[in-house]
Amino acid sequence: MPSTVPIFTLRDYEKRDFPALFALDRLCFEPGIAYSRPELASFIEQRRSYTIVAEWNAPPDEADEETGSGVKPVLKPKVQPGPSRPLIAGFVTFHYQREGYGHIITIDVHPDARRHRLGTMLIDAMSEKLRKMTAFMVVLEVAVNNHSALAFYDKHGFKRIKVLPRYYNRKIDAIFMTKRL
Ligand SMILES: CC(C)(COP(=O)(O)OP(=O)(O)OC[C@H]1O[C@@H](n2cnc3c(N)ncnc32)[C@H](O)[C@@H]1OP(=O)(O)O)[C@@H](O)C(=O)NCCC(=O)NCCS
Repeated sequence: MPSTVPIFTLRDYEKRDFPALFALDRLCFEPGIAYSRPELASFIEQRRSYTIVAEWNAPPDEADEETGSGVKPVLKPKVQPGPSRPLIAGFVTFHYQREGYGHIITIDVHPDARRHRLGTMLIDAMSEKLRKMTAFMVVLEVAVNNHSALAFYDKHGFKRIKVLPRYYNRKIDAIFMTKRL
């Protein structure tokens, strides 16, 4: 039976990734909510901060398919890196707090990569890393009007704890959510 190859590969952040992550954050959030360059840089570089990056896997050689290597790409050709699409498909940045919990700074999935479980892969990889650091919980803030992110966090078992009034830009409320690890 043919096997499948994943369309994304996760790895640790490297400094050279920063411009691509900044561009992706701008694509994912509207002005006023997206981080400025210095904000994002300081969040990524602060102590006990971790960033996991997802790359699109290169499409397999046509030759592989013709010769029937038995390896089938998932979702080809809709989701692939290309000249107009950066190699980075998503990332998550989180901070390990001394008190023993993780705080999600941001999780960004490229619009073309959404609903292919990349957000789930990033949350799972983050949770595994936090558990290894003996964190007992993960927390986050999400804008009340960010319905897709709310649905995503609900699906992952985060609990809505309280509203943080005018958290974003002193205008938009946020919901504070938590999940035990
Ligand atoms: C939120 C986000 C990270 C989700 O990433 P993703 O890779 O699309 O998520 P997944 O494919 O792993 O989704 C897992 C599940 O979450 C839920 N979900 C995700 N996006 C959803 C949407 N737009 N509407 C409803 N449910 C959604 C679904 O239950 C989904 O499972 P399904 O596809 O089998 O129905 C992505 O939409 C994103 O980057 N948004 C912009 C940035 C952002 O808002 N980040 C969160 C900041 S707090």
